Amino acid sequence: MGSGVLTAGFVRAPDGAMQCEGVPIERIAREVGTPLFVYSSAIIRDRYARLAAALAPVPHRIHYTLKANSSRTLLRLLHDQGAGAEVVSGGELQRALRAGFTASDVIFGGVGKTDDELREAIRAKVMLINAESEAELVRIDALAREAGRVAPVGLRINPELSLATHDYIKTGERGNKFGIPHAEAEAVARVALRLKNVALVGLDMHLGSQLSRVEPYHAGASRLVALYFEIKALGASAIRYLDIGGGLGVRYENEDPLDLDKFAEVVLPLVARTGLTLLMEPGRYLVGNAGALVATVLYRKATGGKQYIIADAGMTELLRPSHYDAYHKIERVEGGTAKPVVADVVGPVCESGDFLALDREVVDTQPGEHILVHDAGAYGYVMSSTYNSRRRAAEVLVDGDRFAVITVRETYDDLMRLDVDTPTWSA
Ligand code: LLP
Repeated sequence: MGSGVLTAGFVRAPDGAMQCEGVPIERIAREVGTPLFVYSSAIIRDRYARLAAALAPVPHRIHYTLKANSSRTLLRLLHDQGAGAEVVSGGELQRALRAGFTASDVIFGGVGKTDDELREAIRAKVMLINAESEAELVRIDALAREAGRVAPVGLRINPELSLATHDYIKTGERGNKFGIPHAEAEAVARVALRLKNVALVGLDMHLGSQLSRVEPYHAGASRLVALYFEIKALGASAIRYLDIGGGLGVRYENEDPLDLDKFAEVVLPLVARTGLTLLMEPGRYLVGNAGALVATVLYRKATGGKQYIIADAGMTELLRPSHYDAYHKIERVEGGTAKPVVADVVGPVCESGDFLALDREVVDTQPGEHILVHDAGAYGYVMSSTYNSRRRAAEVLVDGDRFAVITVRETYDDLMRLDVDTPTWSA
């Protein structure tokens, strides 16, 4: 199941128009308006099933990472497939709980958790809090004592590997802000074993994101497994979980998606030697290819020898192109023939960095027609902003021949809800 043909949620109907599963995109755009995110439930279910099948040889839990996309209905869909959750803030913890995850299904991670967030996680009785430093571990112990609890903790160890991915999404290299330096891991484990209000139940790493090779997983997991045996020899008898993070890469342009069969082949035997439960925290793999951003073309412009397609979506809806130089395939939604054009596909925001694609050959799309920006299911809506007082887009989930709005478009009132009309001054 790992490497077979992936379910295609976005396809062209016989008349040439794009649809998501059985629903024409133009219909959704007409009824809901644009800009708009559309998600295919079939893709999400398919990805979850593939990953679960690949990991099946060992005891495991898949904890979907909310930062990729935290819309409640998507969370419920993943929960229904059997997923747990991984959260990195009090807000994400609330989202997970309100979507129906029980706290015992939730991993709490993140490099800068506040006391309030830690208190909330301890009070809720999350399954695991991944600590990223000795100082944090001591803090968790103190807050757990205050709450009269023993907090289950994992130690996030920096795997200290150099990886080929975008600089901004590298997290597992020596000297970056994430995790406990490898050389200090044993000392921090000793501290954990001494503290009365934490129970050391896991070891954790996260390599980075959008990884397409299995070698780093092999190298990282080998180091973590070796460390496990060292720490166990110190008397750590409660360790149950080996968390190898997320990072499984997907195809945006022509990247090789990570080969799950090969991944399982090299990583699972290492995990099996420990007898621990394998935890993974995938985000992009489960939802990245499952979503698209749909926008309406407002204007065409030719200036300075350049062609522009000006759409009603840009960096405020999908930040990835302007923030990471990320490639997202763009297609015209409407069928029929049209000649290709090399153009910058840009948004309405008052910034030159507001673009979805630069110098891209796309089908010439005219005002009133729609474009589909592919693979926007992960790190799309969640990274959107209201800059220029733009209202955040709507989100729609398609399931077979049906679709439903799962996040309504923001209103002007929503935009200004937090403004204080008559400030109360303190002196
Ligand atoms: N676990 C930890 C500790 C993480 O930091 C991340 C992602 C994940 C799991 C999930 O990684 P994934 O499976 O989705 O690769 N905004 C960027 C991606 C940032 C990823 C941050 N950490 C982007 O749009 O490419």
